[in-house]
Amino acid sequence: SIEPPKPLIVEVPEVEVDDGKKKVTIFFGTQTGTAEGFAKALAEEAKARYEKATFKVVDLDDYAADDEEYAEKLKKESIAFFFLATYGDGEPTDNAARFYKWFTEGKERGEWLQNLQYAVFGLGNRQYEHFNKVAKEVDDILIQQGAKRLVPVGLGDDDQCIEDDFTAWRELVWPELDQLLRDEDDTTTVSTPYTAAVLEYRVVFHDPIDAAQEDSSWSKANGHAVYDAQHPCRANVAVRKELHTSASDRSCTHLEFDILGTGLSYETGDHVGVYCENLTETVEEALNILGLSPDTYFSIHTDKKDGTPLSGSSLPPPFPPCTIRTALARYADLLSSPKKSALMALAAHASNPNEADRLRYLASPAGKDEYAQWVISSQRSLLEVMAEFPSAKPPLGVFFAGVAPRLQPRYYSISSSPRMAPSRIHVTCALVYEKTPTGRIHKGVCSTWMKNSVPFEKSLECSWAPIFVRQSNFKLPAVTKVPIIMIGPGTGLAPFRGFLQERLALKESGAELGPSILFFGCRNRRMDYIYEDELNSFVETGAVSELVVAFSREGPNKEYVQHKMMEKASDIWDMLSQGGYIYVCGDAKGMAKDVHRTLHTIVQEQGSLDSSRAESMVKNLQMSGRYLRDVW
Ligand code: 2AM
Repeated sequence: SIEPPKPLIVEVPEVEVDDGKKKVTIFFGTQTGTAEGFAKALAEEAKARYEKATFKVVDLDDYAADDEEYAEKLKKESIAFFFLATYGDGEPTDNAARFYKWFTEGKERGEWLQNLQYAVFGLGNRQYEHFNKVAKEVDDILIQQGAKRLVPVGLGDDDQCIEDDFTAWRELVWPELDQLLRDEDDTTTVSTPYTAAVLEYRVVFHDPIDAAQEDSSWSKANGHAVYDAQHPCRANVAVRKELHTSASDRSCTHLEFDILGTGLSYETGDHVGVYCENLTETVEEALNILGLSPDTYFSIHTDKKDGTPLSGSSLPPPFPPCTIRTALARYADLLSSPKKSALMALAAHASNPNEADRLRYLASPAGKDEYAQWVISSQRSLLEVMAEFPSAKPPLGVFFAGVAPRLQPRYYSISSSPRMAPSRIHVTCALVYEKTPTGRIHKGVCSTWMKNSVPFEKSLECSWAPIFVRQSNFKLPAVTKVPIIMIGPGTGLAPFRGFLQERLALKESGAELGPSILFFGCRNRRMDYIYEDELNSFVETGAVSELVVAFSREGPNKEYVQHKMMEKASDIWDMLSQGGYIYVCGDAKGMAKDVHRTLHTIVQEQGSLDSSRAESMVKNLQMSGRYLRDVW
């Protein structure tokens, strides 16, 4: 028998009206600023379209001080947009972490968000396993809790052109907002296409000052109560060593930052964020292309001379006053491919109309394929593109606002333990050095800086960098007797070096250690077997019970960590059955995916389970925090 269909009642919630204006909140969870940029771009265009509404762009961290406040404030929202990036192993950005934890843990709250109409746009990368996980989760839970979805969740893919994904999704949003935010008698033109204004700071030029004064903006951070990405700590390079042998044609650097007396502290398994500078050759090239003189001292401002804000609020936060050379070295990402909005900004300042047209074409929907090919697939850097359009000379205020994004800090898994190295943060960093399709040699900004850095072992004029610590949940079990399985080929070894230092210290202080096994992989034992002596001594001292190494380029066949795992399948199964933890660190796109599949196979075969039982067991490990991944 078929039940008669229930009548479909579509309730359209009342939109909250404030001062006669409808209120729209646009949340963002951002790491590198892209989500924030999209949120602001949406707000800007919406403001131009809907005069009878107010739009507020809100950092999810700033929105509420605690869980209760999140609940209280969210309940009062009537229209909201969420721009949410997904990072690493399907994780939220730092500024969305608190919100995400609270929101996803409260699945049982019932339908308490019936007053809310919303849309979510996710920023992710299809190459990764948990593509846009954060956005999808939030979208699902919003629906479960009674909110009304205005448009399907946008799945921005940074592997392709995420700006296009955003533009396409935004076109779905307008008809919905027209319904909600326009009065019936409102006849203002809906069809006027909005063109994003070229962003520009107000620039003030100053008398020159000396370099020492310039650096004071970083050193002032010392003594700061809490260090974070906005308040980094100046740390000297104490030690730098090459980890590959001379037989290797690649390079991997061991670096130690000195944090003695800075107040900066860390825990085993944490990450360190490092702000580094562009190479001198890159800065010189930029100076040439822009036609600017390096020692000009300037500052940028987001307000007009009289203190009122510049029209448009989408400007990234300004940096402290400095010379043009310093600004290009520290704050401009010069080697990533330019975004379409950057091409538009260049077009606006190209004196040759043919160049301006071509730039606009590349940024237009018609030039989509050519942009994908000529810019993205060719890995053309901003500087390479600018060199092809010599008449495009954006002024400083435009260059730093809309052409070159901010140079981002780089994150590394710390490879030491504070129990062994309380006043040092160790980093293990492989050199990025590759030829791009255009024949350019791409030198990784931070890895090259580290490789060339001067440690204070060698010179008092040593290298330093602003750094900060980011906490992670990649931690050893609280009980030392619990068995652990560690898988970390290449620089994926980093956090495990910290783990083993910690275990050695624990052992020396009398703790009883459970069984442990470390799987490491590299190409060839004579070239890139990093920390070989240390690893062997960890075995001798009992910090690790067993070390298994896969060499991928020694014999006729590739030997990878997952092949070695299969050989040790019954040991792995035993350890997991005893409540053991399993840790994976390293490349997410290849290695971590393959290791995950292998773990599934091991569980299935050793436990004589069918595929779905094996899957739920692996999932359980993950949910209970016993299967942890630090992947990138
Ligand atoms: P390869 O470069 O010879 O392919 C550290 O980078 C080690 O990880 C290298 O030995 C590398 O081997 C290996 N590796 C590359 N891809 C891998 C994958 N999908 N799974 C496991 N190891 C991998």
